[in-house]
Amino acid sequence: MATVTLKGLTKRYGDNTVVDRVDLDVPDGTLLSILGPSGCGKTTLLRMIAGFVEPNEGDVLFDGESVASVPPNKRNIGMVFQSYALFPHMTVRGNVAYGLEQRKLDKKQIDERVDQVLATVRMEEFRDRKPGQLSGGQQQRVALARALAISPRLLLLDESLSALDKKLRVDMQVELRRILEETRITTLFVTHDQEEAMTLSDQVVVMNEGRIEQSGAPAEVYEKPKNAFVASFLGKANFFEYPDGSPFAVRPEKIHISSSSANPKCEGVLSYVIYAGNMTTYGVDISGRTIVCEVQNTDVRELLAKGQKVFLAWEPASEIRLEG
Ligand SMILES: Nc1ncnc2c1ncn2[C@@H]1O[C@H](COP(=O)(O)OP(=O)(O)O)[C@@H](O)[C@H]1O
Ligand SMILES: [Mg+2]
Repeated sequence: MATVTLKGLTKRYGDNTVVDRVDLDVPDGTLLSILGPSGCGKTTLLRMIAGFVEPNEGDVLFDGESVASVPPNKRNIGMVFQSYALFPHMTVRGNVAYGLEQRKLDKKQIDERVDQVLATVRMEEFRDRKPGQLSGGQQQRVALARALAISPRLLLLDESLSALDKKLRVDMQVELRRILEETRITTLFVTHDQEEAMTLSDQVVVMNEGRIEQSGAPAEVYEKPKNAFVASFLGKANFFEYPDGSPFAVRPEKIHISSSSANPKCEGVLSYVIYAGNMTTYGVDISGRTIVCEVQNTDVRELLAKGQKVFLAWEPASEIRLEG
């Protein structure tokens, strides 16, 4: 297990700077999610850490030591990609054993280790099947087992759960969390799914155009986003301006909506109502722009209908000041 440090890490393809002076500290045993839109440089960042892509500038350090001169197969990293990249002609056992055989462990040691990691991902009974005889979720577990088998000091997961359907993905998130808590392997998890990033990780990093916009604990980044990009990428946000023109955001769930208000911040017309069982989302039209409010459907609540006049209010503490 390792502490990972990135210092001024930069990658350019021609004139295109795809990773731009990234500094990052990942403490030992941390599960860190990297979140950002497609094309913002997440995969390139992981590939530089793994050693498959050479940075133009900057350095990658494991436990304080540069790995610049260490080839990928000597960095002791487990990787799982979106396409699981299992060997189709090999059994589950063969796939998981592969990295151990490369390391020339003896057969008994390999068998023990394979059994151990297959138990961790709960796939023992499938050891003799081939990948084609497994579901997507099961293949995902095998890919994870293969990455864990070598006892890596760092695990890199690149959109690993993205190909799974919603229900399976949520199950795998819980499973992954359990496995990583058991093994305490430092993990960098790339995703474009903000809910996944929030629920899984100790720390989230929001990237945009090759740069880190913000990093911190999920609650910290969600409650105190620095700018409009982070506020709208991690969760939903309504944007407003103070009289001096400086911007602030209010999260939809912090807005109180009602048909009457003693001290409203603003008023508008209810333009849509989306009922989703546990909560309702309201769109409120205020002179041509829509403010989104989310209300938990507890037993005491007012029924509001599309087209009616509504008042919005929120606590001053719910206003998030943003960089201009
Ligand atoms: N080998 C390459 N040659 C040229 N451009 C590349 C190469 N790999 C990635 N890029 C570009 O770098 C940018 C970031 O890509 P990537 O790291 O894959 O983003 P992400 O994983 O966040 O979607 C993209 O604009 C992509 O087209
Ligand atoms: Mg990618």
